[in-house]
Amino acid sequence: MLAQVMRARVAIRAAREKTMDKKTQSQSEGDLTEALFKEGEIYKPSKDVLEKANLKNYDETVKYAKENPEKFWEEAAEKLEWFKKWNKVFDPSNKPFYKWFIGGKCNIIQNALDKHLKTKGNKTAIIWENERGVSRKLTYSELSKEVNKLANALKALGISRGDRIAIYLPNIPEIAISMLASAKIGAVHSVVYAGYSAGALAERINDAEAKILITADVGYRRGKIIKLKDVVDEAVRKCPVLEKVIVVKRSNEEINIGEKDIFYDKIVEKESDECETEIMDAEDPLFILYTSGTTAKPKGVVHVHGGYMVGVARTINWVFDLKEDDIYWCTANPGWITGHSYIVYGPLMAGVTTLMYEGVPDWPKPDKIWQVVEKYKVSVFYTAPTLIRAMMKYGDEWPKRHSLSSLRLLGSVGEPINPEAWKWYYKIIGESRCPIMDTWWQTETGMIMITPLPVVPLKAGSATFPFPGIEADVVDKNGKTVPLGKGGFLVIKNQWPAMLRNVFKNPKRYRETYWEKIPGYYATGDLAAKDKDGYFWIQGRTDDVLNISGHRIGSAEIESALVTHEAVVEAGVIGKPDPIKGETAKGFVILKEGYKESQELVQAIKLQVRKTLGPIAVISEISFVDKLPKTRSGKIMRRVLRAKELGLPVGDVSGLAD
Ligand code: WT7
Repeated sequence: MLAQVMRARVAIRAAREKTMDKKTQSQSEGDLTEALFKEGEIYKPSKDVLEKANLKNYDETVKYAKENPEKFWEEAAEKLEWFKKWNKVFDPSNKPFYKWFIGGKCNIIQNALDKHLKTKGNKTAIIWENERGVSRKLTYSELSKEVNKLANALKALGISRGDRIAIYLPNIPEIAISMLASAKIGAVHSVVYAGYSAGALAERINDAEAKILITADVGYRRGKIIKLKDVVDEAVRKCPVLEKVIVVKRSNEEINIGEKDIFYDKIVEKESDECETEIMDAEDPLFILYTSGTTAKPKGVVHVHGGYMVGVARTINWVFDLKEDDIYWCTANPGWITGHSYIVYGPLMAGVTTLMYEGVPDWPKPDKIWQVVEKYKVSVFYTAPTLIRAMMKYGDEWPKRHSLSSLRLLGSVGEPINPEAWKWYYKIIGESRCPIMDTWWQTETGMIMITPLPVVPLKAGSATFPFPGIEADVVDKNGKTVPLGKGGFLVIKNQWPAMLRNVFKNPKRYRETYWEKIPGYYATGDLAAKDKDGYFWIQGRTDDVLNISGHRIGSAEIESALVTHEAVVEAGVIGKPDPIKGETAKGFVILKEGYKESQELVQAIKLQVRKTLGPIAVISEISFVDKLPKTRSGKIMRRVLRAKELGLPVGDVSGLAD
């Protein structure tokens, strides 16, 4: 089973590279390792990088953290401000419901905003720009005041500690302000990416039992106006518990004003810009973020104040090597974990300037993204392989029109970066000067887990080694380490402060998904291999979770969206390799009696999926079939579909019903 999945991954990778560059390497059938680790070249850190690195003694630190994990994280925690110190660093007594910094009193806002007011109130915290050229800058002091006003307004609406606030906003300063205001008063935010459909939004609001939703009238993307409020209106009809909808009004577009609607400007206008930061227990929840798994129902991943702030602060300082004058740009959206940890909380805790851009990288021209880097003199740039591949396709002339000399460090996240894209990023964007931090992590891990630090020698396409204090390994299904060079399941063998604490209202799912798949370890759901030098090479998911342009979405979710179309009885969905997006979704569909295959029907079904889940779940191909391969218990065997589609050996089909 494992070998089969590995072979599929290697084939996917090879297929992707082939489409990128006809000349690329031949792929050997038998030996996985050869196909995986064809890149021998090592990129050593320059003298300049070595001299300036925040963490210089890498080997000693890794050794120290391994031998004294609690002390290691305690020292990280001591670098932050707390209202009251913890009595105990780590409590594993109620496995797998681990606790950190027990007895500690804190609030992430104390470190993201409050503490800066004394020393850097006038420093720019957020630079925001959108594709229409509108921009805004907020200093730490201004940001704090905005946060306080909204925090007071939320309190006036009856929100208190522990209440959930849903946020459905474009990439505008108000999304950060809303998250921070929620944290400030001890409420729990649940940000829903503004590309999700009304149904997906309603499902998340209801699961979290949110009392308030913060949204906007419109968003802007690729020259178009996205009428967010229309989506919200449709969702709100299905959300009885929701009390109020706060609307950020940005345009003169006409919107429907319902009885729950109130305007952001109106409610903050009369509020004071001072507000006490709520004193939280280290283990009190900070946010819920929904992510896809193997069932159609998304999981509400719960993160807490104390451990999360420690993990995120430590990783951002070491991985991105942040300095006082950095202009830091992470191109993700705050609606995903990358945005939570490394657009909002991380950079603010580090006290740097974080850039937010509302728009796409290649509109109105393919060099938009490089123009923004040049304009704001971005020094640290963090993006996703899918974006790198898309930019690479436009050709070198676009980045070359701009001065990228301000850049000193690059990052990658979201999916495996193929060596071709890595090298292009390194040479053309980083001008062979900037180390690339390929950071592996997940919504659940809260912080970066496997990554180089600037002092680590790099290999193109490898996330290198676990962050100090993290014990990752590649094992078989019994938890036994596989030999170097062989593929297996990626697991984390110990615990870390920023780890998820639970699946919201579903501890059973938490236990089963993460702690019972591979005895004793945290199961990541990813496949990986270590090469002879111990470098990690992440291959993709083992489970039926797709990664489309770095967005995680379950096969099961798309299948249940497919069957909402009246013509569809049953559907199976698999991921197929794609040169830009990494993966795309292909659906195998059984039609109801009386429906005939046609191009129109394909279009209608695709549209239905888009309507049900939102534009991130685009289905690229649909095939009509009479039957789907199933187990005797009726589960669709997606690996059989995948093997047939990709021309791979089908393998063990003894579980097949007929
Ligand atoms: C999945 C997590 C927090 C990152 C943003 C996505 C894949 C993430 C890498 C990487 C190879 C990666 C994994 C992981 N992934 N980063 N550097 N190399 N794969 O967060 O939506 O929770 O998805 O993204 O498959 O399990 P997410």
